[in-house]
Amino acid sequence: MKATIFDGSPAGDPTGERIAGLLTPLLSAKGYEVKHIVVLRDKTLGHCRGCFQCWLKTPGICVIDDDNRELSAKFIQSDLVIMLTPVTFGAYSPELKGMLDHLIANVSPFFTTVNGESHHRKRYSRYTDLMAIGWNDTPDETQKAMFRHLAWRNAINFHSERSNWGVVRSEASDAALKAQLEALTRNLDRTTAKSGEALPRIAVTGGVASELRNALQLVGSPRMATSSSAALGGYLLQQLEAQGVATETICIHKAMRDAEKRQAMLEAIDRADLCILAFPLYIDSLPAPVLSLMRTIRERRAGLPPKGAFAAIANCGFIESRQNAHALATCAIFAEAAGLRWLGGIAIGGGEGLVHGQEFLKPGRMTIPYKHALDQVAEALAVGKPVPEEARQQLAKPFIPAWLHRFAGSMRWKKEARRNGVERELGAQPYRIQEMRAG
Ligand SMILES: Cc1cc2nc3c(=O)[nH]c(=O)nc-3n(C[C@H](O)[C@H](O)[C@H](O)COP(=O)(O)O)c2cc1C
Repeated sequence: MKATIFDGSPAGDPTGERIAGLLTPLLSAKGYEVKHIVVLRDKTLGHCRGCFQCWLKTPGICVIDDDNRELSAKFIQSDLVIMLTPVTFGAYSPELKGMLDHLIANVSPFFTTVNGESHHRKRYSRYTDLMAIGWNDTPDETQKAMFRHLAWRNAINFHSERSNWGVVRSEASDAALKAQLEALTRNLDRTTAKSGEALPRIAVTGGVASELRNALQLVGSPRMATSSSAALGGYLLQQLEAQGVATETICIHKAMRDAEKRQAMLEAIDRADLCILAFPLYIDSLPAPVLSLMRTIRERRAGLPPKGAFAAIANCGFIESRQNAHALATCAIFAEAAGLRWLGGIAIGGGEGLVHGQEFLKPGRMTIPYKHALDQVAEALAVGKPVPEEARQQLAKPFIPAWLHRFAGSMRWKKEARRNGVERELGAQPYRIQEMRAG
């Protein structure tokens, strides 16, 4: 049985290498041959563009021709994948997430239901088992529980029949670390479907409400101005402007490409009374560049007194808005770590069908209930109050029944694939290992 280790450590963190070294003999004893240890920070990986061309133009292959293709192939061709990462705001490192975002190519665009929620169907007939090992340097039960929840959700999305996860202490001695890894490898036979992990609830930060002078919208979608994120966040920003708040918008993906723009973004964040992050859900979490920015902000603000507030708008492709819960919990943990007052998050399901590529109010009646709720959110944020619970609940409601959403989504994918002349290849399996033919 073939195992692949993906090491998502950032530069300067030797923990991934240590774990890989201790784990390899333990896996051999279980009958696995560790075929590859991939240090992700050494790979050339462009960020996922959110274009879905890996489904609709070159089915199963990302249109970006870099190391992501080799990594997606290794992932699908393994019997066991082990992901190594420092626990980062209860989620993964940007290094690991940069690879995972590309793995959407390995599933089908069409839908299935798991545990009452929408997910994507299989592209391949067999998928790897999955093990996620995180580490932290100080014990943190909330982030540990969040990490387990994310690993479990990912195992569902990647169709891993068996999966296991755990968080170890990076400062543990080799003997203590080995004992923890032994315990994890002993449990490799756990069935994913049966091993649900709860997500801890994280409250908004209290504190004194104060009037806003300025608000900065950070758009976390690679589709930038044409994204559902920008449409939703843009509407909220307009309402804040109407209440006398000065506003600015920065697209994270654009700013992260260029050192000067990146610096200007960090300075704008320092100046803002309120930052509103509007982002799409990617593989049950935030897109890699957004996690990367969060890590930079935390480092930049370490040791400084708390300043400013933070709120977030998440939108996901599936109709169930609750699928955004982990990503919003990550936002809350980030805010606390960066000394920002957490004013809460909004989760919207079916963002692709609701507003994609259009101004928020253009889709007409569908967005009306959302409009009123966003107006309420703007009123609260304008005076430094948290997102009102009533508005949060209104925004979380599906705008159409789940079955209709899945049906309409499937029709859309087929139409676009037909336009690209690849309707028949939608189920292509480019990374399948070809069986040896006798004779
Ligand atoms: C790489 C990738 C991963 C995604 N993962 C998820 C997911 O785990 N759950 C989900 O509901 N939608 C997922 N989506 C769908 C997006 O969240 C959805 O299309 C969203 O509306 C895009 O918003 P935007 O226009 O602001 O980028 C994913 C999309 C991409 C491109």
